[in-house]
Amino acid sequence: MTKKGLFICIEGLDGSGKTTHAHKLVRNLNEKGIDAIYTTEPSRGELGTFIRGTILEGKKRVPRVVEAVLFAADRVEHLEKDVKPAIEEGKVVVSDRCVYSSLAYQGAAGLDLEWIEKINSFALPADYAIYIDVPPEVVVQRIRRKKSVMERLETQREVQKVYLKFVNNGQLISIDGDRKKSEVEQGILSMVMEFLENHRTS
Ligand SMILES: Nc1ncnc2c1ncn2[C@@H]1O[C@H](COP(=O)(O)OP(=O)(O)O)[C@@H](O)[C@H]1O
Ligand SMILES: [Mg+2]
Repeated sequence: MTKKGLFICIEGLDGSGKTTHAHKLVRNLNEKGIDAIYTTEPSRGELGTFIRGTILEGKKRVPRVVEAVLFAADRVEHLEKDVKPAIEEGKVVVSDRCVYSSLAYQGAAGLDLEWIEKINSFALPADYAIYIDVPPEVVVQRIRRKKSVMERLETQREVQKVYLKFVNNGQLISIDGDRKKSEVEQGILSMVMEFLENHRTS
């Protein structure tokens, strides 16, 4: 591999398996002797912790625009503090969500995609971004949260629509995630290994 590391992002609906497979990917790469680390958005920093604990938990309602700006601000901090230094050290950084999550979720909530892209223009683009494709009907069964299944299903359908736009324009590479975990795990590993091979030789 080249001296500099790489930024790999795992995207998908809630319950599609991002956290499961981001961790498995890191472990599988490490087993092959590749220095890879796991990270996540929202970050573990102050802003990310606020977003997780307060906004995502529903303890505080803020206007959609404020929410979008907070996610973008946390992203910049996370990239500067955690991701870029690791990439400089030559590591492969596997991120559980990245900018596409903002586009998909805030876009599904009705904000203009171009505006979301604009406020995220400081974000480091992923070198390789994977979309774990699982139908909304399947993810709602996997997560079974408090909210009514219908409500969540509708939201997940809207979010999926935006993700699929980025699959169709080639920014996200899709993998069928509605299979046994071991199959998805091997699929993701093969895709990433192929990408790393091509990257090394290009
Ligand atoms: N391929 C799969 N088949 C069945 N269940 C899965 C699969 N991948 C993940 N899961 C399960 O679905 C749930 C959500 O997975 P998780 O990795 O937390 O998703 P996300 O981080 O995308 O929300 C977990 O209980 C996980 O074990
Ligand atoms: Mg997760």
